Amino acid sequence: MSKIVIFSGAGVSADSGISTFRDSDGLWEKHDVKDICTAGCLITNREETLAFYDARREDIQNKKPNLAHITIAKLKNKYPDKIAVITQNVDDMFERAGCSDVLHVHGFLRELCCEKCNLVKDIGYEKQSREELCPQCNEKLRPNIVFFGEQAPRYADLYKHLEDCEVFVSIGTSGAVINVDMFTQWAEYSILNNLEKSNLINEEYFDEVYYEKAVTAIPKIELSLKKFLLD
Ligand code: APR
Repeated sequence: MSKIVIFSGAGVSADSGISTFRDSDGLWEKHDVKDICTAGCLITNREETLAFYDARREDIQNKKPNLAHITIAKLKNKYPDKIAVITQNVDDMFERAGCSDVLHVHGFLRELCCEKCNLVKDIGYEKQSREELCPQCNEKLRPNIVFFGEQAPRYADLYKHLEDCEVFVSIGTSGAVINVDMFTQWAEYSILNNLEKSNLINEEYFDEVYYEKAVTAIPKIELSLKKFLLD
């Protein structure tokens, strides 16, 4: 599997103008997770939940990838077998930066999936039709997003990549949902970048730490990674 794992969260897209979740003014300050992103909310609060994801799709439509997405895409495309790009983000900034093979462990905003047969449909940046049913089994469609309390099937792929990862890079995640400290234990070398210190991440586990915007940290991260990509 990949030698370098580049793992990201909302902070990598913050410089593109997309809100994070837990920073001040973040999405979870304006919305209650239990209303729109928790298992069961499609039954108890369906319209508000679908409207929340409609608004997220509309929001990313005119956003642009930033230097962090572009640099990571360039590295991944140059070393496709050596680098894994894994993100908790549901936006498509890496794809729009031209990055191939991005693993989205929490789902993908542009997609709907069937609540029963898991058929996946790309609707781009459109609002979800409230009438349309699954073309395969006629059941309800939902945003292809992993809610709290639901299974995250792509975590299995994340762990596979980490098994023989030599370098672990974490960019723009608070560690509130996925404990990135743990991943440093598997890697020989680890790099952390966040805007500010998170009380959920022990920076002592990392060999390089950058508390600054991803767009200013990424040239330094790229330089460090090149040392591991020479052979
Ligand atoms: N550059 C780098 N890092 C930044 C920037 C920036 N410009 N702006 C903010 N950050 C950092 C913050 O310091 C914080 O540590 O990004 C992190 C954002 O943390 P969260 O809002 O908690 O986002 P994330 O870790 O991706 O959330 C994980 O939670 O609600 C769920 O499913 C959702 O995938 C998401 C998961």
